[in-house]
Amino acid sequence: MPSYLESATEIAREAGSLLLQYLEKRPAFEIKGEQDLVTEADRASEALIVQRLQQHFPSHSVVAEEGSGKDRQSEYCWYVDPLDGTTNFAHSYPAFCVSIGLQYQDELIAGVVFDPTRNELFSAEKGSGAYCNNRRIRVSKATQVRESLLATGFPSRKRHEDVNVYFFHQMGVKAHGIRRSGSAAIDLAYVASGRQDGFWEFGLHAWDVAAGLVLVSEAGGAYSDMKGGKLLLNSPHLMADNGLIHAEFLQDVGNVFEGRIHTPIPGLTPGAPVRY
Ligand code: IPD
Ligand code: CA
Ligand code: CA
Repeated sequence: MPSYLESATEIAREAGSLLLQYLEKRPAFEIKGEQDLVTEADRASEALIVQRLQQHFPSHSVVAEEGSGKDRQSEYCWYVDPLDGTTNFAHSYPAFCVSIGLQYQDELIAGVVFDPTRNELFSAEKGSGAYCNNRRIRVSKATQVRESLLATGFPSRKRHEDVNVYFFHQMGVKAHGIRRSGSAAIDLAYVASGRQDGFWEFGLHAWDVAAGLVLVSEAGGAYSDMKGGKLLLNSPHLMADNGLIHAEFLQDVGNVFEGRIHTPIPGLTPGAPVRY
């Protein structure tokens, strides 16, 4: 009988190939929130994943972004993002993936993030390390934010209420750079593989992060909410990194929360022209 990880890997690969087939047709998108896109590919990928998971694990619960999962009151729960990076996908921008994570009781125990455009399959099972295409991956060795490449994302919903631009500015002034891939699951996979030293974001959902968090911890990294509290799947914000910069990173975002802004955004007075 295949392990949870083997099954999730096989399913993620199958869903990823399906996404590539849709990508060629450049599918139309619909708007499900203010600017929250969804395509036929999101639904087709989810239908495939949920069906396969039910076939393999009929008693397990499934929570899937587009709503086709089922709560079976099981101690095992799969969190499925059938297409993470829909906005990229809808514009044929090649940064999107399939993300499948498994929780047992209140512990994340397995995760797979598959990027079909690069044919990169990131996988991890609790206690067994993290891998990219069967090669062991580990977090980076950067010890200071000043020498780090960081990443973040901006939610589609409630953009007018978004405060992340302040964090983006402050961290951007200090770090080597800030990337914004448009796929939180890929961002977490890149922290796990040492391509990025840290990542933060507000307002993510369990399906965005469940798999990626297993990758980060199995690759030797650390995560918490942005105030240093225990990260729960419904926490309002998240920080994940190589562990070595965690304390400094927390202090930096803490400064922004407290209004201790060392470099204000230039020219940000409403009504005043932006000079350059
Ligand atoms: C989105 C991506 C993006 C993040 C958004 C998510 P979706 O997921 O992960 O990077 O910034 O907050 O909603 O909608 O493409 O599955
Ligand atoms: Ca997502
Ligand atoms: Ca999605």
